[in-house]
Amino acid sequence: MPTLRRLDISEFRNLRSATLQPGEGINLISGENGSGKTSILESISVLAHGRSFRTHKFRRLINNDEKSFTLFGQIFEGTTRNIGLSRASNGDIQIRIDSKAAHTATELAECLPLLVMNSASFQLLEGSGQVRRKFFDWLVFHVKQEFKHYWKLYARCIKQRNSLLRRDKITRSELLPWDQELTKAAQHIESMRSEVFELFQTHFLNEIGQFDFTETLGAELSCTYVSGWSKTGNYNEQLEDQFERDVAAGYTHIGSHKSDVKINLARVPAVEELSRGQQKSVIVALFLAEALVFRTTTGRTPVFLLDDLPAELDEKNLRIVGKALKNLGSQVFATAIDPKSILTGWELVDDESLRMFHVKHGQVELKNDITLRDSFLL
Ligand SMILES: Nc1ncnc2c1ncn2[C@@H]1O[C@H](COP(=O)(O)OP(=O)(O)OP(=O)(O)O)[C@@H](O)[C@H]1O
Ligand SMILES: [Mg+2]
Repeated sequence: MPTLRRLDISEFRNLRSATLQPGEGINLISGENGSGKTSILESISVLAHGRSFRTHKFRRLINNDEKSFTLFGQIFEGTTRNIGLSRASNGDIQIRIDSKAAHTATELAECLPLLVMNSASFQLLEGSGQVRRKFFDWLVFHVKQEFKHYWKLYARCIKQRNSLLRRDKITRSELLPWDQELTKAAQHIESMRSEVFELFQTHFLNEIGQFDFTETLGAELSCTYVSGWSKTGNYNEQLEDQFERDVAAGYTHIGSHKSDVKINLARVPAVEELSRGQQKSVIVALFLAEALVFRTTTGRTPVFLLDDLPAELDEKNLRIVGKALKNLGSQVFATAIDPKSILTGWELVDDESLRMFHVKHGQVELKNDITLRDSFLL
Protein backbone atom coordinates (compact mmCIF):
# COMPACT_ATOMS: atom_id res chain seq x y z
CA MET A 1 0.00 0.00 0.00
CA PRO A 2 1.46 3.40 -0.88
CA THR A 3 2.20 5.47 2.22
CA LEU A 4 3.95 8.76 2.82
CA ARG A 5 6.69 8.11 5.36
CA ARG A 6 8.47 11.41 5.46
CA LEU A 7 7.43 14.93 4.57
CA ASP A 8 9.74 17.97 4.55
CA ILE A 9 8.07 21.30 4.07
CA SER A 10 9.93 24.50 3.47
CA GLU A 11 8.46 28.00 3.04
CA PHE A 12 5.00 26.68 2.20
CA ARG A 13 2.27 29.07 3.47
CA ASN A 14 2.96 29.60 7.21
CA LEU A 15 5.01 26.38 7.43
CA ARG A 16 8.51 27.79 7.17
CA SER A 17 10.34 24.62 8.04
CA ALA A 18 8.62 21.43 9.14
CA THR A 19 9.38 17.73 9.06
CA LEU A 20 6.86 14.96 9.69
CA GLN A 21 7.48 11.24 9.82
CA PRO A 22 3.96 9.92 9.41
CA GLY A 23 2.87 6.45 10.40
CA GLU A 24 1.28 4.03 7.93
CA GLY A 25 -2.10 4.20 9.65
CA ILE A 26 -3.86 7.17 11.23
CA ASN A 27 -2.02 10.50 11.47
CA LEU A 28 -3.88 13.04 13.54
CA ILE A 29 -3.01 16.73 13.12
CA SER A 30 -4.38 19.09 15.74
CA GLY A 31 -4.02 22.80 16.42
CA GLU A 32 -5.88 26.06 16.78
CA ASN A 33 -7.52 28.02 13.98
CA GLY A 34 -4.88 29.37 11.63
CA SER A 35 -2.07 27.20 13.04
CA GLY A 36 -1.31 25.44 9.74
CA LYS A 37 -3.28 22.14 9.79
CA THR A 38 -4.91 22.51 6.38
CA SER A 39 -1.60 23.79 4.98
CA ILE A 40 0.02 20.45 5.90
CA LEU A 41 -2.67 18.55 3.98
CA GLU A 42 -2.37 21.05 1.15
CA SER A 43 1.40 20.50 0.97
CA ILE A 44 0.81 16.74 0.59
CA SER A 45 -1.70 17.42 -2.17
CA VAL A 46 0.71 19.75 -3.98
CA LEU A 47 3.50 17.22 -3.64
CA ALA A 48 1.35 14.39 -4.98
CA HIS A 49 -0.61 16.27 -7.67
CA GLY A 50 1.39 19.35 -8.44
CA ARG A 51 -1.66 21.41 -7.48
CA SER A 52 -3.51 22.60 -4.43
CA PHE A 53 -7.13 21.86 -3.48
CA ARG A 54 -7.49 25.47 -2.24
CA THR A 55 -6.15 27.63 -5.02
CA HIS A 56 -4.96 27.59 -8.62
CA LYS A 57 -2.58 30.44 -7.85
CA PHE A 58 0.66 28.79 -6.81
CA ARG A 59 2.08 32.14 -5.57
CA ARG A 60 -0.37 31.99 -2.67
CA LEU A 61 1.39 28.83 -1.52
CA ILE A 62 4.80 30.45 -1.20
CA ASN A 63 5.45 31.93 2.23
CA ASN A 64 4.76 35.67 2.07
CA ASP A 65 8.37 36.51 2.98
CA GLU A 66 9.95 34.14 0.47
CA LYS A 67 10.35 33.57 -3.27
CA SER A 68 9.89 29.81 -3.48
CA PHE A 69 8.67 26.78 -1.57
CA THR A 70 10.10 23.26 -1.54
CA LEU A 71 8.43 19.99 -0.64
CA PHE A 72 10.07 16.64 -0.28
CA GLY A 73 8.45 13.30 0.41
CA GLN A 74 9.41 9.69 0.89
CA ILE A 75 6.84 7.21 -0.34
CA PHE A 76 6.98 3.59 0.61
CA GLU A 77 5.29 0.91 -1.48
CA GLY A 78 7.50 -2.16 -1.43
CA THR A 79 10.44 0.12 -2.10
CA THR A 80 11.11 3.72 -1.13
CA ARG A 81 10.70 6.53 -3.64
CA ASN A 82 11.89 10.06 -3.06
CA ILE A 83 9.82 12.79 -4.61
CA GLY A 84 10.41 16.51 -4.54
CA LEU A 85 8.72 19.60 -5.89
CA SER A 86 9.67 23.22 -5.71
CA ARG A 87 8.00 26.26 -7.15
CA ALA A 88 9.34 29.78 -7.42
CA SER A 89 7.41 33.03 -7.66
CA ASN A 90 8.70 33.53 -11.23
CA GLY A 91 6.81 30.35 -12.21
CA ASP A 92 9.81 27.99 -12.30
CA ILE A 93 8.84 24.49 -11.27
CA GLN A 94 11.09 21.56 -10.48
CA ILE A 95 9.85 18.04 -9.98
CA ARG A 96 12.17 15.20 -9.06
CA ILE A 97 11.38 11.55 -8.68
CA ASP A 98 14.25 9.50 -7.26
CA SER A 99 16.68 12.30 -8.15
CA LYS A 100 15.62 12.30 -11.81
CA ALA A 101 13.84 15.35 -13.18
CA ALA A 102 10.21 14.66 -14.09
CA HIS A 103 8.33 16.73 -16.65
CA THR A 104 4.76 16.55 -15.45
CA ALA A 105 2.98 16.27 -12.14
CA THR A 106 1.03 13.28 -13.54
CA GLU A 107 4.08 11.13 -12.79
CA LEU A 108 3.81 12.23 -9.15
CA ALA A 109 0.10 11.38 -9.01
CA GLU A 110 0.90 7.79 -9.93
CA CYS A 111 3.34 7.52 -6.98
CA LEU A 112 0.81 8.62 -4.38
CA PRO A 113 -2.90 8.23 -5.17
CA LEU A 114 -4.77 10.69 -2.95
CA LEU A 115 -8.37 11.33 -1.92
CA VAL A 116 -9.04 14.72 -0.34
CA MET A 117 -12.19 15.28 1.69
CA ASN A 118 -12.83 18.77 3.04
CA SER A 119 -15.60 21.35 3.30
CA ALA A 120 -15.52 21.78 -0.51
CA SER A 121 -16.62 18.13 -0.79
CA PHE A 122 -20.20 19.27 0.00
CA GLN A 123 -20.15 20.41 -3.62
CA LEU A 124 -20.53 16.74 -4.51
CA LEU A 125 -24.15 17.11 -3.41
CA GLU A 126 -24.75 20.84 -3.83
CA GLY A 127 -22.76 21.49 -6.97
CA SER A 128 -23.23 20.83 -10.65
CA GLY A 129 -22.84 17.50 -12.41
CA GLN A 130 -19.30 18.51 -13.34
CA VAL A 131 -18.15 18.16 -9.71
CA ARG A 132 -19.54 14.63 -9.43
CA ARG A 133 -18.27 13.68 -12.89
CA LYS A 134 -14.73 14.78 -11.97
CA PHE A 135 -14.89 12.90 -8.69
CA PHE A 136 -16.09 9.72 -10.38
CA ASP A 137 -13.65 10.05 -13.30
CA TRP A 138 -10.75 10.06 -10.81
CA LEU A 139 -11.69 6.46 -10.19
CA VAL A 140 -12.22 5.53 -13.85
CA PHE A 141 -8.87 7.17 -14.67
CA HIS A 142 -7.05 5.04 -12.07
CA VAL A 143 -8.91 1.83 -12.79
CA LYS A 144 -9.08 1.87 -16.61
CA GLN A 145 -5.78 2.45 -18.29
CA GLU A 146 -7.26 3.54 -21.62
CA PHE A 147 -9.51 6.14 -20.07
CA LYS A 148 -6.91 8.89 -20.21
CA HIS A 149 -6.33 8.34 -23.93
CA TYR A 150 -10.02 8.44 -24.85
CA TRP A 151 -10.76 11.37 -22.55
CA LYS A 152 -8.00 13.41 -24.18
CA LEU A 153 -9.31 12.49 -27.65
CA TYR A 154 -12.84 13.40 -26.60
CA ALA A 155 -11.77 16.76 -25.14
CA ARG A 156 -9.86 17.61 -28.33
CA CYS A 157 -12.85 16.76 -30.55
CA ILE A 158 -15.31 18.75 -28.41
CA LYS A 159 -13.03 21.79 -28.44
CA GLN A 160 -12.68 21.62 -32.21
CA ARG A 161 -16.39 20.96 -32.74
CA ASN A 162 -17.40 23.90 -30.51
CA SER A 163 -15.09 26.27 -32.33
CA LEU A 164 -16.55 25.12 -35.68
CA LEU A 165 -20.08 25.59 -34.31
CA ARG A 166 -19.23 29.21 -33.57
CA ARG A 167 -18.07 29.79 -37.14
CA ASP A 168 -20.42 31.38 -39.67
CA LYS A 169 -22.50 29.10 -41.90
CA ILE A 170 -21.28 25.79 -40.66
CA THR A 171 -22.90 22.74 -42.26
CA ARG A 172 -23.51 19.37 -40.69
CA SER A 173 -21.23 17.66 -43.26
CA GLU A 174 -18.31 19.82 -42.12
CA LEU A 175 -18.80 18.52 -38.60
CA LEU A 176 -19.10 14.87 -39.62
CA PRO A 177 -15.41 13.85 -39.35
CA TRP A 178 -15.27 15.33 -35.83
CA ASP A 179 -18.56 13.74 -34.87
CA GLN A 180 -17.31 10.33 -35.91
CA GLU A 181 -14.18 10.65 -33.75
CA LEU A 182 -16.27 12.09 -30.94
CA THR A 183 -18.71 9.18 -31.12
CA LYS A 184 -15.88 6.67 -31.02
CA ALA A 185 -14.31 8.29 -27.94
CA ALA A 186 -17.70 8.79 -26.23
CA GLN A 187 -18.64 5.15 -26.65
CA HIS A 188 -15.38 3.98 -25.09
CA ILE A 189 -15.71 6.46 -22.22
CA GLU A 190 -19.30 5.41 -21.67
CA SER A 191 -18.53 1.72 -21.52
CA MET A 192 -15.58 2.24 -19.12
CA ARG A 193 -17.64 4.49 -16.86
CA SER A 194 -20.61 2.10 -16.82
CA GLU A 195 -18.41 -0.83 -15.90
CA VAL A 196 -16.70 1.02 -13.04
CA PHE A 197 -19.99 2.54 -11.89
CA GLU A 198 -21.56 -0.85 -11.32
CA LEU A 199 -18.87 -1.65 -8.72
CA PHE A 200 -19.01 1.85 -7.30
CA GLN A 201 -22.78 1.78 -6.78
CA THR A 202 -22.67 -1.53 -4.91
CA HIS A 203 -19.97 -0.24 -2.56
CA PHE A 204 -21.71 3.10 -2.06
CA LEU A 205 -25.01 1.50 -1.06
CA ASN A 206 -23.16 -0.83 1.26
CA GLU A 207 -21.22 1.99 2.93
CA ILE A 208 -24.19 4.35 3.31
CA GLY A 209 -26.15 1.43 4.81
CA GLN A 210 -23.75 1.52 7.80
CA PHE A 211 -25.23 4.87 8.87
CA ASP A 212 -28.51 4.24 10.72
CA PHE A 213 -30.16 7.45 9.59
CA THR A 214 -30.80 5.86 6.20
CA GLU A 215 -33.47 3.67 7.86
CA THR A 216 -35.38 6.69 9.10
CA LEU A 217 -35.53 8.49 5.75
CA GLY A 218 -38.88 8.63 4.02
CA ALA A 219 -37.41 7.14 0.83
CA GLU A 220 -34.41 5.15 -0.28
CA LEU A 221 -31.15 6.85 -1.15
CA SER A 222 -30.10 6.05 -4.67
CA CYS A 223 -26.96 6.59 -6.68
CA THR A 224 -27.38 6.51 -10.46
CA TYR A 225 -25.11 7.09 -13.40
CA VAL A 226 -26.81 9.31 -15.96
CA SER A 227 -25.33 9.30 -19.42
CA GLY A 228 -24.73 12.58 -21.24
CA TRP A 229 -27.12 11.60 -24.01
CA SER A 230 -30.30 9.56 -24.29
CA LYS A 231 -29.71 5.85 -23.78
CA THR A 232 -32.51 4.99 -26.18
CA GLY A 233 -30.51 5.98 -29.25
CA ASN A 234 -27.17 6.30 -30.93
CA TYR A 235 -24.94 9.25 -29.94
CA ASN A 236 -24.06 10.19 -33.52
CA GLU A 237 -27.73 10.33 -34.54
CA GLN A 238 -28.54 12.45 -31.51
CA LEU A 239 -25.75 14.86 -32.43
CA GLU A 240 -27.49 15.20 -35.79
CA ASP A 241 -30.86 15.90 -34.13
CA GLN A 242 -29.21 18.53 -31.90
CA PHE A 243 -27.36 20.22 -34.75
CA GLU A 244 -29.52 23.39 -35.04
CA ARG A 245 -29.57 23.86 -31.27
CA ASP A 246 -25.80 23.41 -31.04
CA VAL A 247 -25.21 25.93 -33.85
CA ALA A 248 -27.48 28.47 -32.15
CA ALA A 249 -25.57 28.14 -28.87
CA GLY A 250 -22.10 27.58 -30.37
CA TYR A 251 -21.78 24.67 -28.02
CA THR A 252 -22.26 20.87 -27.95
CA HIS A 253 -25.18 20.10 -25.64
CA ILE A 254 -24.87 16.33 -25.32
CA GLY A 255 -22.00 13.93 -24.70
CA SER A 256 -19.62 12.48 -22.13
CA HIS A 257 -18.99 15.97 -20.74
CA LYS A 258 -22.62 16.08 -19.61
CA SER A 259 -22.99 12.83 -17.74
CA ASP A 260 -23.68 12.85 -14.01
CA VAL A 261 -23.76 10.64 -10.94
CA LYS A 262 -27.01 11.52 -9.22
CA ILE A 263 -27.62 11.01 -5.52
CA ASN A 264 -31.36 11.09 -4.99
CA LEU A 265 -33.97 10.48 -2.34
CA ALA A 266 -36.91 9.15 -4.31
CA ARG A 267 -36.75 11.43 -7.37
CA VAL A 268 -35.44 14.49 -5.59
CA PRO A 269 -31.73 15.40 -5.20
CA ALA A 270 -30.75 14.14 -1.72
CA VAL A 271 -29.24 17.52 -0.82
CA GLU A 272 -32.73 19.06 -0.77
CA GLU A 273 -33.80 16.91 2.15
CA LEU A 274 -30.76 15.72 4.11
CA SER A 275 -29.37 17.50 7.16
CA ARG A 276 -25.78 18.73 7.00
CA GLY A 277 -24.49 15.77 9.05
CA GLN A 278 -26.45 13.34 6.88
CA GLN A 279 -24.97 14.98 3.79
CA LYS A 280 -21.50 14.56 5.24
CA SER A 281 -22.19 10.86 5.83
CA VAL A 282 -23.24 10.48 2.19
CA ILE A 283 -20.03 12.20 1.12
CA VAL A 284 -17.97 9.90 3.33
CA ALA A 285 -19.75 6.91 1.74
CA LEU A 286 -18.92 8.24 -1.74
CA PHE A 287 -15.23 8.51 -0.83
CA LEU A 288 -15.17 5.09 0.81
CA ALA A 289 -16.84 3.54 -2.24
CA GLU A 290 -14.23 5.14 -4.45
CA ALA A 291 -11.39 3.84 -2.27
CA LEU A 292 -12.89 0.35 -2.12
CA VAL A 293 -13.28 0.06 -5.89
CA PHE A 294 -9.75 1.40 -6.25
CA ARG A 295 -8.47 -1.26 -3.83
CA THR A 296 -10.45 -4.10 -5.45
CA THR A 297 -9.26 -3.30 -8.94
CA THR A 298 -5.66 -2.17 -8.36
CA GLY A 299 -4.73 -3.89 -5.10
CA ARG A 300 -3.58 -0.49 -3.76
CA THR A 301 -5.25 1.90 -1.33
CA PRO A 302 -5.38 5.66 -1.77
CA VAL A 303 -4.06 7.93 0.97
CA PHE A 304 -6.85 9.93 2.63
CA LEU A 305 -6.54 13.62 3.51
CA LEU A 306 -9.46 14.51 5.78
CA ASP A 307 -9.71 18.16 6.68
CA ASP A 308 -11.74 18.82 9.81
CA LEU A 309 -13.60 15.52 9.61
CA PRO A 310 -15.31 15.90 13.03
CA ALA A 311 -17.18 19.03 11.89
CA GLU A 312 -20.87 18.17 11.37
CA LEU A 313 -20.52 14.53 12.45
CA ASP A 314 -21.87 13.31 15.77
CA GLU A 315 -19.96 10.78 17.83
CA LYS A 316 -21.82 7.77 16.49
CA ASN A 317 -21.29 8.67 12.85
CA LEU A 318 -17.67 9.61 13.44
CA ARG A 319 -17.15 6.15 14.92
CA ILE A 320 -18.66 4.52 11.82
CA VAL A 321 -16.23 6.46 9.62
CA GLY A 322 -13.28 5.41 11.79
CA LYS A 323 -14.24 1.75 11.57
CA ALA A 324 -14.63 1.90 7.80
CA LEU A 325 -11.25 3.58 7.38
CA LYS A 326 -9.58 0.99 9.60
CA ASN A 327 -11.10 -1.83 7.51
CA LEU A 328 -9.91 -0.15 4.35
CA GLY A 329 -6.29 -0.06 5.55
CA SER A 330 -5.48 3.32 4.01
CA GLN A 331 -2.98 5.74 5.40
CA VAL A 332 -4.99 8.66 6.78
CA PHE A 333 -4.09 12.27 7.56
CA ALA A 334 -6.91 13.83 9.58
CA THR A 335 -6.98 17.36 10.99
CA ALA A 336 -9.05 18.53 13.94
CA ILE A 337 -9.00 21.60 16.15
CA ASP A 338 -9.50 19.31 19.12
CA PRO A 339 -8.40 15.70 18.46
CA LYS A 340 -10.46 14.35 21.37
CA SER A 341 -13.47 13.33 19.30
CA ILE A 342 -11.37 11.31 16.86
CA LEU A 343 -9.14 9.83 19.56
CA THR A 344 -12.02 8.44 21.56
CA GLY A 345 -14.42 7.78 18.70
CA TRP A 346 -11.86 5.77 16.75
CA GLU A 347 -10.57 4.00 19.86
CA LEU A 348 -7.07 5.25 19.18
CA VAL A 349 -5.94 6.12 22.68
CA ASP A 350 -3.98 2.86 23.03
CA ASP A 351 -3.24 2.45 19.31
CA GLU A 352 0.50 2.02 18.85
CA SER A 353 0.40 2.87 15.16
CA LEU A 354 -1.25 6.28 15.69
CA ARG A 355 0.89 9.36 15.12
CA MET A 356 -0.23 12.65 16.59
CA PHE A 357 1.09 15.97 15.42
CA HIS A 358 0.36 19.31 17.00
CA VAL A 359 0.71 22.52 15.00
CA LYS A 360 1.25 25.95 16.54
CA HIS A 361 2.07 29.06 14.47
CA GLY A 362 3.38 26.90 11.63
CA GLN A 363 5.61 24.77 13.89
CA VAL A 364 4.86 21.04 13.85
CA GLU A 365 5.55 18.85 16.83
CA LEU A 366 5.16 15.11 17.19
CA LYS A 367 3.11 14.34 20.32
CA ASN A 368 3.12 10.62 20.31
CA ASP A 369 3.75 9.70 23.85
CA ILE A 370 0.79 7.67 25.14
CA THR A 371 0.71 9.75 28.33
CA LEU A 372 0.54 12.90 26.23
CA ARG A 373 -2.57 11.54 24.54
CA ASP A 374 -4.21 11.49 27.92
CA SER A 375 -3.53 15.19 28.22
CA PHE A 376 -5.56 15.73 25.06
CA LEU A 377 -8.44 13.89 26.64
CA LEU A 378 -8.57 16.01 29.77
N1 LIG B 1 1.51 32.49 1.68
C1 LIG B 1 1.40 32.52 3.00
N2 LIG B 1 2.46 32.93 3.76
C2 LIG B 1 2.37 32.96 5.12
N3 LIG B 1 1.27 32.62 5.80
C3 LIG B 1 0.19 32.22 5.09
C4 LIG B 1 0.20 32.14 3.66
N4 LIG B 1 -1.00 31.70 3.25
C5 LIG B 1 -1.74 31.52 4.36
N5 LIG B 1 -1.04 31.82 5.47
C6 LIG B 1 -1.46 31.72 6.89
O1 LIG B 1 -1.24 30.39 7.27
C7 LIG B 1 -2.02 30.08 8.42
C8 LIG B 1 -2.45 28.63 8.37
O2 LIG B 1 -3.60 28.44 7.62
P1 LIG B 1 -4.36 27.05 7.62
O3 LIG B 1 -5.50 27.19 6.70
O4 LIG B 1 -3.39 25.95 7.36
O5 LIG B 1 -4.85 26.95 9.15
P2 LIG B 1 -5.66 25.80 9.88
O6 LIG B 1 -4.81 25.32 11.00
O7 LIG B 1 -6.15 24.80 8.93
O8 LIG B 1 -6.86 26.65 10.52
P3 LIG B 1 -8.44 26.33 10.69
O9 LIG B 1 -8.59 25.55 11.97
O10 LIG B 1 -9.03 27.68 10.83
O11 LIG B 1 -8.91 25.59 9.50
C9 LIG B 1 -3.12 31.12 8.45
O12 LIG B 1 -2.90 31.94 9.58
C10 LIG B 1 -2.93 31.92 7.17
O13 LIG B 1 -3.23 33.27 7.34
MG1 LIG C 1 -8.06 24.39 8.26
